[in-house]
Parts: sequence; C-alpha cells; structure tokens
Amino acid sequence: MNTKPTKIAIIGTGYVGMACAIGFAEFGHQVVGYDILIERVRQLQRGVTPYHEAGITESLTRHLRTGSVRFVEDIESAVHGAAFIVVAVGTPSHQDGSADLSGVYDVIGRLARLNLRGATVVLRSTVPPGTSEWAADALRNNADVVYAPEFLREGCAVPDFLNPDRVVVGAESRLVAERYGDLFAHLSRPILTMSLRNAELAKGMSNAFLAMKISFANQVANLCDELDADALDVLDAVGHDRRIGRMFLQPGIGFGGPCFEKDLKSLIHLSKNSNADYDLLHATLDVNDRQPRRVVDVLEQELNESVSGVRVGVWGLTFKAGTDDVRDSLAIRVVEALAARGAEIVAFDPAFRDPAHRLPCTLAASALEAADADVLLVLTDWPQFRAVDPWALAHRLRRRLIVDGRNVLDIDAVTAAGLLYRGIGRRRTASGVELAEVG
Ligand code: UGA
Repeated sequence: MNTKPTKIAIIGTGYVGMACAIGFAEFGHQVVGYDILIERVRQLQRGVTPYHEAGITESLTRHLRTGSVRFVEDIESAVHGAAFIVVAVGTPSHQDGSADLSGVYDVIGRLARLNLRGATVVLRSTVPPGTSEWAADALRNNADVVYAPEFLREGCAVPDFLNPDRVVVGAESRLVAERYGDLFAHLSRPILTMSLRNAELAKGMSNAFLAMKISFANQVANLCDELDADALDVLDAVGHDRRIGRMFLQPGIGFGGPCFEKDLKSLIHLSKNSNADYDLLHATLDVNDRQPRRVVDVLEQELNESVSGVRVGVWGLTFKAGTDDVRDSLAIRVVEALAARGAEIVAFDPAFRDPAHRLPCTLAASALEAADADVLLVLTDWPQFRAVDPWALAHRLRRRLIVDGRNVLDIDAVTAAGLLYRGIGRRRTASGVELAEVG
C-alpha cells in the first residue's frame, strides 16, 4: 500500500479508466471519476459498470461504499485538489489509419482552461509520438504532463493494473516521472522512466510485437495444417525458449478487438509519414486479415462442398473470452463471411447481449442449443465451451463436424465421442488416428 493517500482524478471511464480508478483505490488513494457521458456517470454512481469484466462490479461496489471511489458530473469538481489527473479517453482510427485524437484534444483543452495548481496530468490513452509534448505545451505553467502507457488487457484489466510487468513513465523531467512512478513503488516492479516520446513509442511497439507473435503463430499453424503436423506442439517447443516466451503464440482466427489493428494502422501511418519501412507491420495485418477466411475455407474443405444452405452453429461472438466487447471481433467477421456464402447461422455467446443486433445470425440461449445444427464452429476462446458434454454434441450435430477456430476444445474427448475435429494447425484426430477411422 502507498502510505500517502492522494486524490486522483480519472477522466474517461472506459475499461482503462475504470481499471485505473479501482486499481488506485486498491492502493489506498481517493479516486474521483468523470466521463463526458453523463448517463454513464450516473450508472457508475449506482455501481453499474458499462461492460462485462470479471470482478469489476464487486470491486466498484466495495469502493463506492467506503467512499474511496466516487463519480461526478463535471470535470471541474473531478480535478479540484487532485494531485494526479489521469486521462483515459478513446483514440479510435481515422479512415487513413491515423489516430483520431479529438477526445484527447478536447480533454486537454478543457483542462487548460482550469487552474490545475501544478497537478500532474497523466495521459494513458494510446497516442502517436508527439501528442504528449503537445499536451505539455498546452498545460505549461499549469500542470506537468506524464505519458504512462497502459498494458491492460480487457477481461483482466484490474489484475493487470495491480500486477504490472513494468511501469513505463514518460515525462519532460526525471522528477516529474518519479512522482508518478512513486505511486507504484510498493509493487517492487521495474519503473522505467524515459522521455514522453519514447514512452509513446513503447506502447505502440509492445502491441505491434504482440500482434506480430500472433500472426507468426497463425502462419505456423497454417503450414502445420498443410504438413499434417501439430502447431501446438511446435509452438510450445518454440515458446519454451526464454528468449521467445510462450505467451501470445496461440493460433486461431486472428487478433480482434479495439487495440491491435488500430495501433498497427496508426504505426503504419506514422512510419509512412516518417519515410521509415513498415513491412513487418503490414505483414502482421495482412496475415490477420486472411485468417478469418481460412476458418471458412477449412469448414468447406471438410464438408467437401460450399457452406451454402448448411446450418452452422457458432460458439462465441466477442473478440476474446472474458469480455462482452465485439469491436473488431473476427468472430463476427467469420459469421459475416459464412452468411455471404449462404450459410444459415445460429450463434451462442455467454456475454453478447444485444437483442437489437444486426448480425446475420439468430441467437441461441445456450451452447447446446447453438449446436442444433449441421456443423459447429468455435470462434471465441470461452473456457466454458470445453465443459460442454461432447456426447451431447455428437447427438445434435447432424454432420458430426467441429471446426475449432480457437483450439479450445479437448481434442481427445471430442473425437472419442465420434466427432470429426479440425482445429487451427492442430492434429485432426486423437492420438494420431486417421480421420477416416473415426468418421
Ligand atoms: C491488448 C494488449 O494485450 C494489452 O497489453 C494492451 O494494453 C491493450 O491491447 C490495449 O492496447 O489497450 P486486448 O486487446 O484487451 O489487450 O486483448 P488481448 O488479450 O491482447 O487479445 C487481443 C486479441 O488477440 C484477441 O482477439 C485474442 O483472442 C487474440 N490472441 C491473443 C490470439 O489470437 N492469440 C494469442 O496468443 C493471444
């Protein structure tokens, strides 16, 4: 615990802002949250969180009760007396791939009109290099500026906040950087202080490297499929080399969500404008763009015909397990590709709740209900899919075929129930038995 409770204002209550709010409250600070969306502020005041994230509602309720977190409807009272003002607003993409910074510009502009009394403004939104220097100029003689990139994954943003691999702090002076870094000193994790620009690049490059690992894993998987080899064995062996690491080498339908693709596009845009090469970034995106189509191709390969007129059960619509977020979800891209080829789709997702959805599929109330189909496609890595009884599946699936786009199912259990199984780069049948023998 930090020994000096400090008032911290959080501007923006998306999953990054909320993880910061709860995380700083856990450290013993007094947190005041503000969002431009008044309705969201009112919901948060009542303890209602705007999205699905494990444990967040419980933590919020606890901190609201003790008063260590509260939400206000105007930015002025949020920042009044705050030592740190955390800016965590969205930075989506423009058409040309560049980051849309209007949210950041708006907040910094509003802060510049207030008397911040030497507070530290902490930018946490993902921004291109130069943005924090601009903010520092806009707030000169009013507040110091720190760029502290977030490395928080949706679905486990609070644990990631409380347990960081490193804390990166960019600032114009070491003193200012250390002031923010001190909030994390009790965690005994590396606190890396650097220039504003370096910290901005550190964030973009971290996401680019993670995305590149996933595209690499997907290409390995696609090759393994052609060679009848098992990509999970291959990648496990590769990842056990400590220089490489095992995380983010899970092949699948590709990376989705609001971060990787957007950040890659922003870096490509930046590299182009800086006359730097960006081949690896491009290749990472290209591989990812092709991967969802591959799942549909694999399905048609196994069916030996087009999916037109085939009833396809789909498990998973969110961009990954543990979230209800469907932004840039490749699961949805697969559903759209199936529909475009004439399939009839029935989908189940444990977190997707949008009765007014415009997806080209009907929604089932359970995983088994969605399996009342000709074939089954697994598109999100929800662990509960693994717990569904394969024998019950075998009774329902008319063509006894599962294409597991996330390699989430237990291959032995599924094939033992007499189902045909195709993963992504994964051995087709249990224990090396040929596909034909279990059909
Ligand atoms: C990502 C980064 O992991 C965070 O460190 C970063 O802070 C965040 O973006 C951000 O920039 O805000 P997130 O997008 O929440 O976090 O999700 P990830 O867990 O990274 O997964 C991204 C996508 O990659 C998902 O679709 C996931 O299913 C996929 N993935 C992940 C794979 O296909 N294979 C893997 O091995 C890992």
